[in-house]
Amino acid sequence: MSFPRLGVGLQFNPELIGWFPFLDQPLDALEILFDSIMSPLDGPGVLSPRAIELVRDVSGKFPLLGHSNYGGDFGFEDLTATAAVRRHVPLARKFGVAWVANHCFYSDASWADVWSSPLQFSRAEVVRLAERARTLQALYGVPLAHENAAYYRTCPGSEMPEEEFLAAILELSGTYLHLDLHNLYANAQNHGSRGYSIQRFLATIPSERIISIHLAGGRWIGGQYHDLHDTQVTEEVWDLLDDVLARARPGAVILEYETQSLYCAGERVDTDHTTDLILSDLERARNAWDRAYGPASRRTTRSEAA
Ligand SMILES: [Fe+2]
Repeated sequence: MSFPRLGVGLQFNPELIGWFPFLDQPLDALEILFDSIMSPLDGPGVLSPRAIELVRDVSGKFPLLGHSNYGGDFGFEDLTATAAVRRHVPLARKFGVAWVANHCFYSDASWADVWSSPLQFSRAEVVRLAERARTLQALYGVPLAHENAAYYRTCPGSEMPEEEFLAAILELSGTYLHLDLHNLYANAQNHGSRGYSIQRFLATIPSERIISIHLAGGRWIGGQYHDLHDTQVTEEVWDLLDDVLARARPGAVILEYETQSLYCAGERVDTDHTTDLILSDLERARNAWDRAYGPASRRTTRSEAA
């Protein structure tokens, strides 16, 4: 399958909606979280009524990308019963997304308690998940990519490194990789002493199948590094971005930012400060993209050049 080379975009995260000035930004793409705009599985329609207005303006201005955390793509339910098939596939078609990325987690209809449940990196799961991925990509009709997860424990029964597992799924299914560089960084912090290696990961995955990239930040809490998306992009992640852009040709680099952990800690979000922080990270990502692929290589700069 082919995919467009768009440039640098931002995730349309529910925690930014209502105060972050999305429509004023020169975004090359906007990543929509299907989980947050879909109607409940026991309700009518596919788009939540409260999301209709939210999505209307941005869908007219930016190319949209689909993203999913809780589609049940890699769970154990019959695929036809999952949110991925019943909600995400029709939403992808409705908004004409260029591709869809799903998180490499197990999930089912109970969804909220499965965040960060790592897949079992086993040969049996390669075969089972590749079959689901191939079927789902055919239903989407656009590329389906899998996002490497940040995880805090390894699933029992795992028998190979994560990168070999992902590479095997991609080879069997014909799907794509959505590479989250901060998840790589977080896993290296938490599992480096047990052999996790970013360089080995990047040398093993097929770089030509990287369709998109996530950037984010996080922080240490209680001796564990957390993938919280609530800080400026971690410095080491910028170095990884330069490295990956030099060896791959993705369709987009997407910044993820959310503020939930600040609320949990009792802090208040300074929206002016956070807006500045997001805008400076977007600018730094655009500079990295332009260094790698040239000044007229993004959707917005292409149209200016034309
Ligand atoms: Fe991500």
